[in-house]
Amino acid sequence: MRSHYCGLVDDSLVDQEVDLCGWVHRRRDHGGVIFIDVRDREGIVQVVFDPDRADSFAIAESVRSEYVLRLRGRVRLRPEGTDNTAMKTGRIEVLGYELEILNSAETPPFPLDDERDVGEDVRLRFRYIDLRRPMMQQRLQLRSEVCRALRHSLDDAGFLDIETPMLTRSTPEGARDYLVPSRVHPGEFYALPQSPQLFKQMLMMSGMDRYYQIVRCFRDEDLRADRQPEFTQLDIEASFVNEEDIMATVEGMMRDLFAHVLQVALPDPVPRMTYAESVRRYGVDRPDLRIALELVDIADLMATVDFKVFAGPAQDPEGRVAALRLPAGAQLTRKEIDEYTQFVAIYGARGLAYIKVNNIAAGREGLQSPILKFLPDNAIAGILARSAAEDGDLIFFGADKARIVNEALGALRVKIAHDRDLVEYGWRPVWVTDFPMFEADGSGGLTALHHPFTQPQTDTVEDFLAHPGESLSRAYDLVLNGIEIGGGSIRIHKPEMQQAVLQVLGIDRQAAEEKFGFLIDALRYGCPPHGGIAFGIDRLVMLMCGAQSIREVIAFPKTQTATCLLTQAPSPVDMTQLRELGLRLRAQPPA
Ligand code: AMO
Ligand code: AMP
Repeated sequence: MRSHYCGLVDDSLVDQEVDLCGWVHRRRDHGGVIFIDVRDREGIVQVVFDPDRADSFAIAESVRSEYVLRLRGRVRLRPEGTDNTAMKTGRIEVLGYELEILNSAETPPFPLDDERDVGEDVRLRFRYIDLRRPMMQQRLQLRSEVCRALRHSLDDAGFLDIETPMLTRSTPEGARDYLVPSRVHPGEFYALPQSPQLFKQMLMMSGMDRYYQIVRCFRDEDLRADRQPEFTQLDIEASFVNEEDIMATVEGMMRDLFAHVLQVALPDPVPRMTYAESVRRYGVDRPDLRIALELVDIADLMATVDFKVFAGPAQDPEGRVAALRLPAGAQLTRKEIDEYTQFVAIYGARGLAYIKVNNIAAGREGLQSPILKFLPDNAIAGILARSAAEDGDLIFFGADKARIVNEALGALRVKIAHDRDLVEYGWRPVWVTDFPMFEADGSGGLTALHHPFTQPQTDTVEDFLAHPGESLSRAYDLVLNGIEIGGGSIRIHKPEMQQAVLQVLGIDRQAAEEKFGFLIDALRYGCPPHGGIAFGIDRLVMLMCGAQSIREVIAFPKTQTATCLLTQAPSPVDMTQLRELGLRLRAQPPA
């Protein structure tokens, strides 16, 4: 039907005839001539209809926004002075000869230009229209390009693309499962995979050596801007490798990706940081290295002060007292400080003490703070020295259980940096390594920080079981600009170690046999050492196109409450379907 994409018509085609198809982006009547901006995937071209061609002119007069057109015309340079440098096709226009309306359209529920701020609910309800917007077209094209480049790298490196089941058993990745009832086995359920973790490990046991898959994963968890109930991973696994091999392979792949798609050179090598260092300096395990602000520990200076709020956590082995210096922060108003205090309260912080450093040379007189009166001179001097404070700065403090201080000051650091324009421009990837194997699950037990198939750094089961709570794992995350884009580990490949880890997690032999018997069996039949990683494609593409949410780079995303506004899923089903599945609904308690 067409010879060219609208958005690709340029001055190399001047004087040629083109056949174009697309949507009416805009129609303008200008003293006898009609201009129609016709839009397709590649962009927009201006088409002009003169009254001399009465037939096509009459049709042009009747078209409205979003009508679907087919046209023939001749490309010509725009008259001097009417170039539009904002458009790819801005030096030319098409003089329309023939025009056919392929379909009419009702007035769209919102205008399709990128500048307009349209509510997300309406955009998602009419997603097929929203996706016509040039910005969304570009995002999905970028996503496709990213996947193509990643596949290309891995194909070249000898990885095999192998599919794994969607109807399967639960794989623990820390979220709730989406369950699918079985009709032929009433009362039994499949789980949709939270990741292909166990299957990719079994592919290594099958001798496939190098596997990858761009694969959908399902997790029923609390949603945020960077989390969806179904999302896409680039999942990778390889045999006879250690962490250096995996990190080198995927670093190369990422560098190629950024060079190819964004013409950006990522640092070589990507820097590394231990989990402990990351939490100490940034409060989180996904540090945004574009932000220079850092937490410093001051518990030793506060252990004996007369201020319980600080002395308590300073003496508590699970406590932390930390300072965060904000350069030029003394300008903050009372109101701004109050807002930040409310912000850290979200993370459980009970307050946000601060000192304004007006003039260090003036001693106490040069400082301004509600807590000054509680602190002796040497403690104040220690804080100023350790945080490297200068005149005009402000120092924030957090004192509580370490987890709360880390989360609160870690989040505050990022928020303030964005508010005050302290985020450097650029790409700052970092590997975070040496994670703890476990963290407290809040009810006296332990849960796996990565997943239960991750190899501890200790090699023997005895060493591991001696101090399981303190063991570190052979896991690694790749963090980019403060977002975890990928995570993986070297896996356990010995059945005894796998059983020991499950035991520490409170899964006894019998339960382990029931849930993971197939895996433990497989470990007994000649399992090679292996390891891998998975990247969140949605997060990666979100970062690469500067979007604020992964919903912006997913064609048909779900809302924060996991609904699809376009299809209205999830939806009730009829009784016959339930009966067939052997299910009966309990009456829902009134909301
Ligand atoms: P993990 O659970 O760390 O590891 O997931 C890997 C990456 O997937 C992305 N991701 C998500 N993206 C969008 N929405 C979500 N709900 C979501 N959850 C995770 C993140 C994350 O880094 N099987 C292991 C990998 C391995 O060990 O090889 C796994 O799934 O970018
Ligand atoms: P208070 O004595 O409770 O009025 O607190 C004095 C100052 O310490 C106020 O600025 C509070 O915001 C701050 N503060 C209170 N609790 C904490 C805490 N756990 N961490 C940091 N600052 C706190």
